[in-house]
Amino acid sequence: MIGFGGLFKELAVFAVVVTIMATSVAAQAKPGCQSKCGNISIPYPFGTSNGCYMSRDFFINCDTSFNPPKAFLSDTGLELQVLNISLDDGSLRIQYHRSVDYDCYNSSGPTSYDTSMFLHRKFSISYSRNKFTAIGCDTIAYINGFSGPDSSNIVFKAKNFSTGCLTFCGDVGDVINGSCSGIGCCQTAIPRGMQAYFFNFTTLQSHSTVLRFNPCSYGFLVEDGVYTFSTSDLSNIDFNKRKYPLILDWAIGDQTCEEAKMDPKNYACKQNSACIDPESGPGYLCKCNDGFQGNPYLCNGCQDINECEALKPCNEFGICHNTLGSYYCTCPEGFEGDGRKYGTGCSPKPKAHRESFPILLVALDIKSSNILLDEKFRAKVSDFGTSRSIGIDQTHLTTQVLGTFGYLDPEYFQSSQFTEKSDVYSFGVVIVELLTGKRAISTFGSQEKRGLVSYFISSMEENHLLDIVDAEFGKDGQKDEVVAVAELAKRCLNLDGRYRPTMKEVAMKLERLRTGQGDYIHTDQIKQAEVVVRKSAESWDFTSFSTEHYSNCSITSTSESELESESDVHPHMLEST
Ligand SMILES: *[C@@H]1O[C@H](CO)[C@@H](O)[C@H](O)[C@H]1NC(C)=O
Ligand SMILES: *[C@@H]1O[C@H](CO)[C@@H](O)[C@H](O)[C@H]1NC(C)=O
Ligand SMILES: *[C@@H]1O[C@H](CO)[C@@H](O)[C@H](O)[C@H]1NC(C)=O
Ligand SMILES: *[C@@H]1O[C@H](CO)[C@@H](O)[C@H](O)[C@H]1NC(C)=O
Ligand SMILES: *[C@@H]1O[C@H](CO)[C@@H](O)[C@H](O)[C@H]1NC(C)=O
Ligand SMILES: *[C@@H]1O[C@H](CO)[C@@H](O)[C@H](O)[C@H]1NC(C)=O
Ligand SMILES: *[C@@H]1O[C@H](CO)[C@@H](O)[C@H](O)[C@H]1NC(C)=O
Repeated sequence: MIGFGGLFKELAVFAVVVTIMATSVAAQAKPGCQSKCGNISIPYPFGTSNGCYMSRDFFINCDTSFNPPKAFLSDTGLELQVLNISLDDGSLRIQYHRSVDYDCYNSSGPTSYDTSMFLHRKFSISYSRNKFTAIGCDTIAYINGFSGPDSSNIVFKAKNFSTGCLTFCGDVGDVINGSCSGIGCCQTAIPRGMQAYFFNFTTLQSHSTVLRFNPCSYGFLVEDGVYTFSTSDLSNIDFNKRKYPLILDWAIGDQTCEEAKMDPKNYACKQNSACIDPESGPGYLCKCNDGFQGNPYLCNGCQDINECEALKPCNEFGICHNTLGSYYCTCPEGFEGDGRKYGTGCSPKPKAHRESFPILLVALDIKSSNILLDEKFRAKVSDFGTSRSIGIDQTHLTTQVLGTFGYLDPEYFQSSQFTEKSDVYSFGVVIVELLTGKRAISTFGSQEKRGLVSYFISSMEENHLLDIVDAEFGKDGQKDEVVAVAELAKRCLNLDGRYRPTMKEVAMKLERLRTGQGDYIHTDQIKQAEVVVRKSAESWDFTSFSTEHYSNCSITSTSESELESESDVHPHMLEST
């Protein structure tokens, strides 16, 4: 359904969003705390001094005896240098000073061997972003993993597994440079939740047949994608001095989000942020809500993104309005359109246009219950005596969403903006309701719950439209008209508003169908939709939309105003009272 233009638009929006994320503000330290150690940013919950970190797990030892200073995790007595701290995904890039373990031989036998234990009491080794890597031509290397310590905080529980790699090769000529493909070099994934490990090596022939070019086996854990194998590594007896980065996953505490929220005093996620249960294991992470950026662990850390500045989303005439967590565009007086760069922009209104009534608002309330059809299948306007005209600046109704879900222009969810074409979409939904005799929100058959619209569109695309059309319309001789109306509805339901017809075109098309080919829809078949007039703004509250909602609304009669087919037709209009 989505046209090429629509796709392009989505891609363009996506590209812009990605740009924002890439330029997101440097996450901050707690006020009054050191925010950098050397060139490494230290965002809260991490910190370098008392009162600056959330708990001891997040203490960073900034060692100023180096120039520039180096940051270390100080949990274990191991020298774990911090290279980068990411709040976005709860990860740490570290470097372990003895990252490469080895097992070396000469013609008399083993010469040197070193495997050391890596461990961290709180953070786990990212299973998705690291790889166990072994190098050698007479090499069996395996890793023995452990999960976190028990309550004594001392004894790490052995995980009942080992995993590893074997690589044998007789001739360096067989080894492929740059490729860790199993000959001379192999890589394998590690299990989830590992907090400690040591390597173990064995050989089949003590490297005796490959000593000329490969005296040692090496094993290390490395951030995925960082290590590139070179055949020269096989003979390099200093390879064990290399240091490779490793990714650790960190999280707050060991509770789930649900548990953590029950303890508001210690709950780490501050305003405008949400809690996330990380895939990596126990504990939780916080994330600024959409439209905000910053440090979710700090009070007022998540700051509104000024999309008007960052995205410049409105076109050259459009006026951008930043709101908390979002934005919207409007056009200056005398212009129409959605004001958006990738939308309809702003174009001068044609002369002799109707009084400038608030088009955007009109979009809000089209649903079958608000439309009365007369005997000629023309939509009549229900009595809006109690409605009021809402100024342009109030049309951006972000949070108290809004209207009736099944009728809402899907573009609204992307843009938070109603356009004239939103009316058309809503009207399309009403046509589909009339054709199918079904409500926009209900369930169909054994399918999972899904919207009438997608049900209708897929029926059309799969060529069984007539199966879903109300039996009353399925009678002989009406097939063509039904198809014509359905086609019209489908155009109204285009996901990209720009490809929908105007309301006027819709009205003219319906009129032509009615007069040109006879009254194919007989008056007695017209379903009189009940007329429900929205009494007050509360009814826009999406959460309160339910059957009770209807019971609180009054039924009123139609108004006199009938739509003229030559005027700018909207199914209904709100006039200031
Ligand atoms: C810090 O500086 C070192 C060398 O000066 C550089 O390699 C490293 O990428 C820098 N790290 C960050 C996070 O900028
Ligand atoms: C360090 O982490 C930040 C925040 O996640 C990220 O934007 C940046 O690219 C990382 N730097 C390096 C050198 O990986
Ligand atoms: C092998 O290494 C051992 C220990 O490093 C050494 O004592 C021995 O002399 C070496 N043998 C040969 C043949 O180089
Ligand atoms: C480890 O797994 C093996 C095979 O499943 C089982 O026989 C053994 O009892 C397990 N050992 C421990 C300590 O759980
Ligand atoms: C490595 O494995 C061998 C054989 O299973 C064992 O004898 C040796 O103790 C292991 N080394 C370490 C450091 O666990
Ligand atoms: C593989 O590449 C390294 C440098 O990247 C080079 O020193 C070595 O000679 C190459 N080996 C072969 C077999 O091409
Ligand atoms: C229904 O309307 C009455 C009076 O208009 C109001 O007091 C009441 O709160 C409404 N109930 C709901 C559920 O909106």
